[in-house]
Amino acid sequence: MTTKLPAEIKNHDDILKNFQESLDNLQTDYVDLYLIHAPWPWNDINLYHRYDGANKEAWKTLEEIYKSGRAKAIGVSNFDVHDLKNILQIAEIKPVVNQLEYYIGWTQPKNVSFTQAQDILVEAYSPLATGGLAEQKDIQTIATKHEVSVPQVALRYILQKNILPLPRATKIEHARSNSELDFELTDQEMDILDKLPDTGQARHNPTMG
Ligand SMILES: NC(=O)c1ccc[n+]([C@@H]2O[C@H](COP(=O)([O-])OP(=O)(O)OC[C@H]3O[C@@H](n4cnc5c(N)ncnc54)[C@H](OP(=O)(O)O)[C@@H]3O)[C@@H](O)[C@H]2O)c1
Repeated sequence: MTTKLPAEIKNHDDILKNFQESLDNLQTDYVDLYLIHAPWPWNDINLYHRYDGANKEAWKTLEEIYKSGRAKAIGVSNFDVHDLKNILQIAEIKPVVNQLEYYIGWTQPKNVSFTQAQDILVEAYSPLATGGLAEQKDIQTIATKHEVSVPQVALRYILQKNILPLPRATKIEHARSNSELDFELTDQEMDILDKLPDTGQARHNPTMG
């Protein structure tokens, strides 16, 4: 069970209050993973306006929550290289996860390689481009060859990058097939997928990429 701290809340007391509200809403006394949703409030996503001090305070508060046993692991989301370096300067406990938008065509190479070099797991959100991969002919060709679906190729691609996909599915048959990934894409297929353009509908945050 994962929950996230809203991006606009960065100060110690408000974080503790918000975290307790999350536990109450979920009717639990702990979560498996607690993440800072983003380094910037959603109404101020700006490469030139950083929230370094605020993110340091937020991270120290997540460490306090972790030490209390109410979050079994703590991490971040949408943190670029600058934001990660910022909290690593003061972290006593390293984030276990950086949850990033990641799918075939949108792979944030700088942020992913820095995160992985710190031994932090990259978790891919929107791994199916929120449904935006369906029409890609090259993915379809590879899927047909392996007798799987386009979403299965998309998720398998992510696993072969040592990244954990976080697909959302409301249909049970989707959830089931998303866990059936016991096939191997060849190096040549991975190369083809690496070169595909971004066909997702999302407008990316200007600080990411
Ligand atoms: N950290 C962040 O800032 C952030 C931002 C955005 C999202 N997220 C998280 O990332 C997760 C997923 O992101 P997402 O919702 O953008 O998109 P996604 O997982 O890329 O796509 C979800 C869509 O794909 C469909 N789908 C799933 N499995 C399928 C399958 N096997 N075959 C065909 N269609 C399939 C779903 O349909 P059905 O529902 O009909 O099954 C749904 O319409 C969410 O849990 C969300 O909380 C995090």
